[in-house]
Amino acid sequence: MTDRSNLLEKKYRAEADGLASAPAGYSGRVTWECPSNIALIKYWGKKAIQKPINPSLSFTLQKSVTSLSVDFLVHKADHELTLEFLLEDRPHPLFAERLMKYLQHVSQFMPFLKSMHLKMQSRSSFPHSAGIASSASSFGAIALALCSMEQKLFGNLRSENDFFRKASFLARLGSGSACRSVYGGCALWGITPEFEGSTDEAAIPVTDAINPLYANYRDSILVVSSGLKSVSSTTGHKLMEEHPFAAARVIQANHNMARIKQSLIVGDQHAFINLIEHEALTLHGLMLSSDPGFILIQPDTLEIIRKVRYYRKETGTPVGFTLDAGANVHLLYPANNEKDIHGFIEENLKRHCENGLVIHDQVGSGPVKIL
Ligand code: PMV
Repeated sequence: MTDRSNLLEKKYRAEADGLASAPAGYSGRVTWECPSNIALIKYWGKKAIQKPINPSLSFTLQKSVTSLSVDFLVHKADHELTLEFLLEDRPHPLFAERLMKYLQHVSQFMPFLKSMHLKMQSRSSFPHSAGIASSASSFGAIALALCSMEQKLFGNLRSENDFFRKASFLARLGSGSACRSVYGGCALWGITPEFEGSTDEAAIPVTDAINPLYANYRDSILVVSSGLKSVSSTTGHKLMEEHPFAAARVIQANHNMARIKQSLIVGDQHAFINLIEHEALTLHGLMLSSDPGFILIQPDTLEIIRKVRYYRKETGTPVGFTLDAGANVHLLYPANNEKDIHGFIEENLKRHCENGLVIHDQVGSGPVKIL
């Protein structure tokens, strides 16, 4: 494989000089809607800076989205970056602080940001208390909005390819998994010999390579817990640095990538289900065996898993589970099994969800530019 390390970073750094002086007084608004995604092959563990230790692959969702509007005003050159941030119409100082640091970091690739006033208003389609990771959809939307601003000011991101590539690169710097949300369908992040053009610096879309069966695959999210996680993903990634199984995990993830690619191409749902469940249980196994170990799944998570496996065995219905970095369970299945599986969820699984919350989502076609 050719060494593609930091190619994009070098490119965007080299281009940054031409993106410094925006006309003072220029103002505008951009709005994007960006979906969340669910990983099939999990990203767990990173190396500097914000690169994954193994490749990951995900389905981008349709209904679980973050909408972000950015009103921007170019100050005079000697002015500093200023930010107002509203989440569901309310200030959110903690996220605003993270966002400010992020904007300062990415201003090396977008120097025009240094003299901007930004008002960002964010809202999500899913309840914030649903425990669904919102950082992927949030940073996806933020990165897309920044690229729209750049395009408005300098007109340099003309091709769709250039636009989304830079957005994915920038999204990754905010939250690793966010780089995959920039593309609809199925997206891959991280170097793997399985997909040409793969890189650790950004995601690539791989939908064209997969069986149409997965184009509208369903994802019913069983919200077992909406509480704040006891251990954040950031801490979990960090614990992989000293993890005794880290090297084996990287080998396994690469092996699983090759196998899932095959199952996605031919539409082998049996193999697909085995792999996504294996990845989900491995992810939580890595958490359990970290030092210190931590447990994000709950008794209801295990009860749902047990029931799903029993239901599949008894009925032959192709439904499998995956888990995010939390207690919630994602059930993945083909569109034509929707009726049966909704019935199964209503009757058997809903009682294990917090306040009976289930979000019926599906694979979607990616972010939408609203303005
Ligand atoms: O992008 P982060 O840092 O929130 O990490 C995401 C980690 C997992 O959701 C567990 C796996 C993945 O690939 O999305």
